[in-house]
Amino acid sequence: MRVLGIETSCDDTGIAIYDDRLGLMINLLCNQFNVHSKYGGIVPELAARSHMNKTVPLIERALMQSGCDVKSISAIAYTAGPGLIGSLLIGASIGHALSFSWNIPIIPINHMEGHLLSPMLEEKKIEFPFIALLVSGGHTQLIQACKIGSYNLLGESLDDSVGDAFDKTAKLLGLSYPGGPSLSKMAKYGTPGRFKFPRPMIKSLDLNFSFSGLKTYVSNLISKQKKDFQTCADIAYEFESAVIDILVIKCKKALKTTGLKRIVLAGGVSANDSLREKIKQMAIRCKSQVFYVKPELCTDNGAMIAYVGMLRFKERKSSTLNIFVNPNWLLSDLKSIK
Ligand code: KG4
Ligand code: ZN
Repeated sequence: MRVLGIETSCDDTGIAIYDDRLGLMINLLCNQFNVHSKYGGIVPELAARSHMNKTVPLIERALMQSGCDVKSISAIAYTAGPGLIGSLLIGASIGHALSFSWNIPIIPINHMEGHLLSPMLEEKKIEFPFIALLVSGGHTQLIQACKIGSYNLLGESLDDSVGDAFDKTAKLLGLSYPGGPSLSKMAKYGTPGRFKFPRPMIKSLDLNFSFSGLKTYVSNLISKQKKDFQTCADIAYEFESAVIDILVIKCKKALKTTGLKRIVLAGGVSANDSLREKIKQMAIRCKSQVFYVKPELCTDNGAMIAYVGMLRFKERKSSTLNIFVNPNWLLSDLKSIK
């Protein structure tokens, strides 16, 4: 069984082929850094147009480079949400056109379920139930994953996502887009202790987060500082430390309140090496296991969509001609796999 995955939810066109015996056969990505960098953030209309130009050539390349015959593809999986409506519709329309002409089923996949299960692309033995920290450009959530498709929201950001806080702070520091990786690189040169930022909501009893106050605090501070290299590095260091402290404290609380001993880190921000290290140290202290995937599979990719498509296709082989997309598709609305 072989599934072609199409990811076009935001600004990366991702195409992959996953085979249930051979594993990941190919995983190609075309980012849009050069399209959006001059605007300092994603322009949705330009993102959709770029997907329009890139998706079909990338599918052709994936088939050619993997040596897969079109006839060997059993199903198509595409990201149906959450994401930008224009971008989602491009992937969905191309997926449906191919499904019709190749006469194979098509499966809509939830992007956040893709992230959540992505560590299974490398590590098949993650047993349910587990805690998942989903940290991306649009989401900051703590989830209790009971089985595939059965996810309880334990807590989430009440305002901005952690990825957005990284991106906006990086922009204020004059760093290149996308901000998260640039800010993290800059933080490596920072001096610990020069600045001290607040850690909002670490004392709250719930598992929710808030990053807008921290963002405002950093923005006010930056406007009063000289923007020399060392000051920017010191601010980046303290910003990253504050965010990581908050995430680690809430993950520890989630393990304690649920009594679970496994935690999965997923989404673009989970590519952050300091976050991975600090969560690992906390998990050791809590006698828990931590799982994450290699950095290129943390950020958006087609592999996670092809993989979840394969899991869902095994269960339900039928498909529909209706094009389904939902920019606000919630994990809690998914159907579980028995
Ligand atoms: O999951 P993702 O690729 O796209 C969404 O679904 O939103 O996440 C993108 C987010 C961006 O905010 C980006 O700045 C952040 O992940 N990111 C990072 C790192 N790599 C990507 N943030 C911090 N450190 C990183 N190394
Ligand atoms: Zn994502």
